[in-house]
Amino acid sequence: MAERETWESRLGFILAAVGSAVGLGNIWGFPFQAGQNGGAAFLVVYLAVVFLIGFPAILMEFVVGRRSRRNPIDAFRELGHGAWAVAGIVGTFTAFWILSFYSVIGGWVLRYLGGSVTGAYFGDATGYFNAVATGPEAVALHAVFMLLVIGIVAFGVEDGIERSAKVMVPSIVVLLLGLGVWASTLANAGAGYEYYLSPDVDVIVNNIASILPSAVGQAFFTLSLGMGAMIAYSSYLGRDDSLPRDGGIIVIFNTLVGLLAGFVVFPILFNLGIEPGSGGSGTAFKTLGGAFGQIPSGELVGVVFFFVLLLAALSSAISLLEVVTSFAVENTSYSRPTVAVGVGALVFLLGVPSALYSDYLMWFNLLAYDLFLPAAVLLLALFIGWVYPSGAVDELTQGSGVSATFNTVWLWFVRIVIPAGILLTLVLGVQELLVVGGVLESAVFLG
Ligand code: PFF
Repeated sequence: MAERETWESRLGFILAAVGSAVGLGNIWGFPFQAGQNGGAAFLVVYLAVVFLIGFPAILMEFVVGRRSRRNPIDAFRELGHGAWAVAGIVGTFTAFWILSFYSVIGGWVLRYLGGSVTGAYFGDATGYFNAVATGPEAVALHAVFMLLVIGIVAFGVEDGIERSAKVMVPSIVVLLLGLGVWASTLANAGAGYEYYLSPDVDVIVNNIASILPSAVGQAFFTLSLGMGAMIAYSSYLGRDDSLPRDGGIIVIFNTLVGLLAGFVVFPILFNLGIEPGSGGSGTAFKTLGGAFGQIPSGELVGVVFFFVLLLAALSSAISLLEVVTSFAVENTSYSRPTVAVGVGALVFLLGVPSALYSDYLMWFNLLAYDLFLPAAVLLLALFIGWVYPSGAVDELTQGSGVSATFNTVWLWFVRIVIPAGILLTLVLGVQELLVVGGVLESAVFLG
């Protein structure tokens, strides 16, 4: 086996991890989840979940990755607990599974980027979406998106992932800020902010059963948890970094980008009197697409928006492919480029049904979001909290200088709060499953 790669710099790791976290989930999913779940009410619950469950959970993945310096499956063997590789297997499988439809949506984004230049979707945004979301062209664009992802991952950790993240992540932030400033000039932007930022306690209390599962699912998804991505990325770290500090930066950065996306989306919707979150994601493409058709300079705004979305989707997709690639590179004699192409081709095939039939995409997403992903995080929390606590705390301490109290509090969050949050979510989620309409709304950010 060739010598294992490492990040060139700490900043490179942080940018790559932020690139993984910031994706369709933030720019697309988050404002629409918020729209479907009462706006500011969702925001409050989501922020609490991100810091109380998401932050401790990302540290669990960092601990496993950096201590083992192995891919997310072999990591557990390396730590002396081979049976728990099941947690890594679930995560790696989920990465593979999610990438298959994430890439189909990446293909839609490519399509809409082109459509913004030509104005193709401006006249009849709904008809356009229905025409292009599935079918042979959707398959072709899914293939193009996968080729871009494979191209980056084939170059390796430092030359592919790190280098591309150093360009993509700052571009996302700058362009999104520009869009936010532009959106603030729209008439009725104030009503958008109000909806987004003024929580109504009654709405939270009355709807907690539907808000909480959505918020937990969104927090895991957006922080790239439960799919081995953060294990894989942290496995290329040196030992002298502070995991809590880097984790904190990544969580805060990712949250700010999600918030910023809301500052772009809600003023646009309120400007045109569109009900936020009506429908789901397909509707998201339709609603925003329709909005770009109606506002002044819509072409330019559309191009910038979908370009940002493309960068965000790419920098996330590469981390999903890296999970499976790192496992295959470390367990076969094939070179990284060969493995990236081979794994990428399999992911492409798995995604073909989602590119042909929207029901497949919906069910792929539903299963991943509601089942695989919480299961993987739960397994990891049980492992770290109850099987491997002293090794985990030892690793967390390396290079961090955090106090013993921090470690103890973290451990109890891992032992109790994360599993309780997931179990509660599963129970509430199942309750919702009983109401079929509710299932689709709560679990599918894409719809
Ligand atoms: N965090 C990404 C998003 O918000 O779109 C999605 C994602 C990427 C999830 C990578 C998981 C992952 F491993």
